[in-house]
Amino acid sequence: MNSLADPKISDLLERLQESAQRDSERWAERSARQQQNPPASDEPDPLIRMGEFYLGVSPAEGKLLYMLARSGKAKQIVEFGASYGISTLYLGAAARDNGGQLITTEVHPDKCVATRQLITDAGLDDHVTLLEGDALETLKALQDDVDLLFLDGWKGLYLPMLELIRPRLHDGSLVAADNVDHQAAQPYVEAMEAVDSGFVTTTVGDMQLSCYSG
Ligand SMILES: C[S@@+](CC[C@H](N)C(=O)[O-])C[C@H]1O[C@@H](n2cnc3c(N)ncnc32)[C@H](O)[C@@H]1O
Repeated sequence: MNSLADPKISDLLERLQESAQRDSERWAERSARQQQNPPASDEPDPLIRMGEFYLGVSPAEGKLLYMLARSGKAKQIVEFGASYGISTLYLGAAARDNGGQLITTEVHPDKCVATRQLITDAGLDDHVTLLEGDALETLKALQDDVDLLFLDGWKGLYLPMLELIRPRLHDGSLVAADNVDHQAAQPYVEAMEAVDSGFVTTTVGDMQLSCYSG
């Protein structure tokens, strides 16, 4: 079984990855705009920002996530930060092929509308649930064990998110954290690399992979 070969999913991934490639152009335009008109300091919610960017995983990272989930036979997968759903498609495909579930999270309202539609268009409604709002709140009610946790929301929240989900991890659960070269992710990186962290950890590119050993 390989849902990444399902044209419904592969066509959507191709289209999204093409659009995401234009992020750097958009970033340059935004920086130029902001230099002319600096944003007001009273922004309503610091969590809700950068709606114009995909900030998505690359095709190589997406396939890596799919393979990690598939080879680990992950049935319960949790994603922190869906954005426009690129990684959600890779992880959702793995959840479907494993006969499992992906719970994904996103705080930006427009991204939630787009990602909900994407999940439906990909035919993944039976295997993917999107929780809208601050994931530190929406995931509090999580009851099930987590086989794979993917961290890709705002980097300064990686450590609090890990602490929230930690009681749901079991021996052998995998935690993948993207963009750990980001300064804000350093407290998380240091905590995972500590000898008594309870994890075996390595970093590949800018993704840190940690296997829980209880
Ligand atoms: C790097 S992007 C995610 C990219 C996505 N995983 C992908 O590969 O396509 C980070 C996303 O996390 C979301 N986010 C940040 N903090 C959040 C929070 N506390 N709860 C839910 N979503 C959050 C942001 O709105 C943003 O869309």
